[in-house]
Amino acid sequence: MKILVTGGAGFIGSHTLIELYAAGHTAVVVDNLYNSSKEALNRVGKIVGEEIPFYQTDIRDREGLEKVLSRYQFDCCIHFAGLKAVGESVAKPLEYYENNMNGTFVLLDVMRKHGCKNIIFSSSATVYGDPAVIPITEQCPKGHCTNPYGQTKSMLEEVLMDVQKADQEWNVVLLRYFNPIGAYKTGTIGENPNGIPNNLMPYITQVAIGKRKELGVFGNDYDTHDGTGVRDYIHVVDLAKAHVCALSAIARQCGVGIYNIGTGHGYSVLDVVNAFVKVNGVDVPYSIKPRRPGDIATCYCDPAKAKAELGWEAQYGIEEMCRDSWNWQKNNPNGYAE
Ligand code: NAD
Ligand code: WQD
Repeated sequence: MKILVTGGAGFIGSHTLIELYAAGHTAVVVDNLYNSSKEALNRVGKIVGEEIPFYQTDIRDREGLEKVLSRYQFDCCIHFAGLKAVGESVAKPLEYYENNMNGTFVLLDVMRKHGCKNIIFSSSATVYGDPAVIPITEQCPKGHCTNPYGQTKSMLEEVLMDVQKADQEWNVVLLRYFNPIGAYKTGTIGENPNGIPNNLMPYITQVAIGKRKELGVFGNDYDTHDGTGVRDYIHVVDLAKAHVCALSAIARQCGVGIYNIGTGHGYSVLDVVNAFVKVNGVDVPYSIKPRRPGDIATCYCDPAKAKAELGWEAQYGIEEMCRDSWNWQKNNPNGYAE
């Protein structure tokens, strides 16, 4: 298939491009490079053995998108483009609502106009809020999102389902990612946060490489096996492959499909730190800090539906995730910057 990949220069998008090409698909990337670098696409090009067509375009720029969709006939869009920093979204709600909501509205309208009515959307475990049941199945009701970022994911899921309900030529796959970490095995692409990392693994790798003094562990009094927060970490390469599998649902005209994309295993903050230290033989000093507002104790999924319906299941465990995150960081201490 020919796939429009919005946000394809980003962390998950760049890894997904590799798996798309490996499976025989081709892609065109639209990204405004707000949170990414063209260098990521150059490196993906080297891995897949051909240059990835790229348009530095904002998805809110209707004319710019029109140009791309007039030039190619796409079978499907994988829609990664969006702002994703939870804390920043609390400080800049308008910017988050405007970018994520309006960007998707323009994208859907232009897609519809050009007869491309298949979309795979990057949703998030955040839509479950503080989950009603653990492990989380797709039947679990959506919860209250404590931040504008999460609200945009939850609302966009509804928008996409309404669009499909009104016009059943659409096929919509909502992939609810759990906690993606890791990097491609070459260590040439990976997660490249700007400034102080918000997420656990990039913070750990920056401590390990000496850029930050110590990791703050946000709370050790949760109701978990060691008191620290438990999450379902998933290797980004497994996550990337889930998108390729989701194309099969699009191909069989699934209507709406909603899938949890995680491993089904929960690891605490200290489990991740200990695995990282053991696998990589490096120190990660840490100290216990107060809980981070908005955090929940435990979040992991039941990924059985994705296995049954998409034929997808995670292959990598926490050791590989820690190894590959470190491989990327140590080979690229400054990310994509020279
Ligand atoms: P990322 O920031 O690395 O990638 C997002 C890309 O979208 C960036 O390259 C950015 O420049 C681009 N972008 C943002 N706004 C745009 C716009 N208006 N027009 C064009 N391009 C734009 O993030 P990621 O981690 O790769 O996440 C990809 C998607 O998955 C996002 O939608 C994110 O919300 C979602 N998601 C991520 C996680 C996670 O933990 N990384 C978890 C669940 C869901
Ligand atoms: C994981 C655990 C922290 C940093 C977020 C978004 C979610 C999704 C994935 C996009 C928690 C602890 C973290 C640190 C720590 N993104 N931690 N010290 O919060 O589960 O999910 O990213 O959709 O929507 O909310 O991920 O990596 O920030 O935190 O102790 O410096 O690590 O408290 O228990 P989270 P995370």
